[in-house]
Amino acid sequence: SPLTAFVDALPKVELHVHLVGSASVPTVLELARRHPGGPVPLTEEALRDFYVFRDFPHFAEVYLAVSDLVRDPEDVATLVVGTARDLAAQNVRYVELTVTPYSHQRVGMPMPAITEALDRAVRDARERHGIRVAYIFDIPAEFGEDAARGTLDHALNHPPEALVGFGIGGDESVRAKHRDAFRDAFTAARAAGLRSLPHAGEMTGPETIWEALEHYGAERIGHGTNCLADPRLVAHLREHQIPLEVCPTSNVCTGQVATIADHPLPHLLEEGLYVTLNSDDPPMFNTTLTGEYRAAAEAFGLGAADLADLARNAVRASCLDAAGQREIL
Ligand code: ADE
Ligand code: ZN
Repeated sequence: SPLTAFVDALPKVELHVHLVGSASVPTVLELARRHPGGPVPLTEEALRDFYVFRDFPHFAEVYLAVSDLVRDPEDVATLVVGTARDLAAQNVRYVELTVTPYSHQRVGMPMPAITEALDRAVRDARERHGIRVAYIFDIPAEFGEDAARGTLDHALNHPPEALVGFGIGGDESVRAKHRDAFRDAFTAARAAGLRSLPHAGEMTGPETIWEALEHYGAERIGHGTNCLADPRLVAHLREHQIPLEVCPTSNVCTGQVATIADHPLPHLLEEGLYVTLNSDDPPMFNTTLTGEYRAAAEAFGLGAADLADLARNAVRASCLDAAGQREIL
């Protein structure tokens, strides 16, 4: 595509990418060989098959199996720096990387050791790859109140220096069961100065996005693609220009939309919503951030100016201060 060089050269930021979900195929194979006996395969071909998902619950199961291979803080640091390398190679200048500390706590890593690894990785990423890394801590919803408590405790009592946000991911359909615990965790995280950056409206409807706005104080929405079913919600998101972290290939791979051509991104733009493009779990979805920009150009007929607008949207929706944003724009 003639836009490939343009997309590559565009200075970009990534707002929605998960740490374990951005582990490269070689890195996952190395971890699987080091910790054999689990469900994660040991060859590249088999891992590619393992990364074909029937639906979101199946994806979540695979994601957990890969998370369980990360056993010590050194692995956490290696994953951050590997992600930073892969993003810097795409001319990504800054990333807000979502870490799920509960998944590392539950295999026995002490919070201070996880934090030390995350802090060290920020410095290494900057020195080796010239990219700024910030962190978002997210609650894995399937683990309920224990996860809310562990994530909040980590964020409040052992925060990495670069921690900017608090989120929630995993299966949205279990949120109602733990409504108060999740809401209380967001209230406390926001009181401590963290930005509220939850997933919502990826696999369930507008009610989850309303919940995120009204009860979590959401400042951006992870995905948010199912907002279109509620015109009043669309009007609210437009009026307040709440950024949506749209991840088109992710939505195809987890079965939210049948093909990229069926993705609602063009409708979100027509409605005047604030759209950013992101990669979510790139090796698991066989994509990259530049791949998402190219896919959007090809599937929806976007041109260079449209892609530049999307890239600028992400810079402006980021947690960078005005000076940090100016360095990229
Ligand atoms: N965790 C990793 N990827 C996710 C996604 N796409 N949605 C919710 N939780 C996730
Ligand atoms: Zn996500």
